[in-house]
Amino acid sequence: MTDNYATFANDAFAGRSVLITGAASGMGLETARAFASKGAEVIMCDRDTKGLEQHAGALRESGAKIHAVTVDVSNPDSISKAFAYCDEKLERLDNVVTCAAVITAKRIFEQDWAHWERVLGVNLLGTFFTVQAGVKRFLENPQGGNIVCVASDAGVCGGGGLIADTAYAASKAGTLSLVKSMARELAGKKVRINALNPGPTDSPMHSHIDQALKDRIAANLPMRRMGRPTDMAAAIMFLCSDAASFTYGSALDVDGGSMFR
Ligand SMILES: NC(=O)c1ccc[n+]([C@@H]2O[C@H](COP(=O)([O-])OP(=O)(O)OC[C@H]3O[C@@H](n4cnc5c(N)ncnc54)[C@H](O)[C@@H]3O)[C@@H](O)[C@H]2O)c1
Repeated sequence: MTDNYATFANDAFAGRSVLITGAASGMGLETARAFASKGAEVIMCDRDTKGLEQHAGALRESGAKIHAVTVDVSNPDSISKAFAYCDEKLERLDNVVTCAAVITAKRIFEQDWAHWERVLGVNLLGTFFTVQAGVKRFLENPQGGNIVCVASDAGVCGGGGLIADTAYAASKAGTLSLVKSMARELAGKKVRINALNPGPTDSPMHSHIDQALKDRIAANLPMRRMGRPTDMAAAIMFLCSDAASFTYGSALDVDGGSMFR
């Protein structure tokens, strides 16, 4: 397997910090590992305290500068507390990455009001209020900061299939609009905001689907494989790096060609 991070110098993010939501699993966890391996101070946030502690502990043992903060992004007070923690513990916050989300696959008439509230509460409101808190810090910081919101190919193409439903897809379409809208409003400031559209990625999010379905998904992709969390972490690091200094309000598709077909 190729090393997705080899193009980044080992000190590429030395002296920089990054807050990542959804960091106890999948892409968020891999993004924490990736940034830590390139010298960043990482604030890992997730509602899964046990998973967070376990993975943060392993990363600390490897010498990384890691903080673990339990956060429920569907609760604005919880988000505020996480950023207050950063204000207290960090010299400066440089990057915010929103990965936290829930995926659901219900048919139209199985989706009730509570379902939509839950999905939008985590995936869309949780993303907006995390970004809002980050932007507040970045506007006060002469060096600004970078934001990456993980959306989805489902946000562009729709869900309604076997692995993502209407509410999920709508939450991700909303995330893409949120990124564009905030980018417009933040024009001329030192805050870069971009989205990432992963295609189907083999992460614990899909632990409920069997291997035969994963094989079918992979066979239907032009790249003939599902994405890996390392593919996404590398793209997120790129978007937060100076190499992406002219990349603004965009949505980067890292999808093995799922949207190209
Ligand atoms: N896996 C895919 O195929 C795929 C495809 C496109 C987009 N995405 C998006 O990528 C991102 C990461 O997905 P993943 O595959 O790594 O999923 P994952 O399930 O492995 O990780 C998601 C993490 O978010 C956390 N989380 C859920 N609700 C939360 C809340 N209220 N507060 C705080 N944390 C919460 C979970 O505890 C978990 O650790 C998500 O935004 C997802 O929608 C995933």
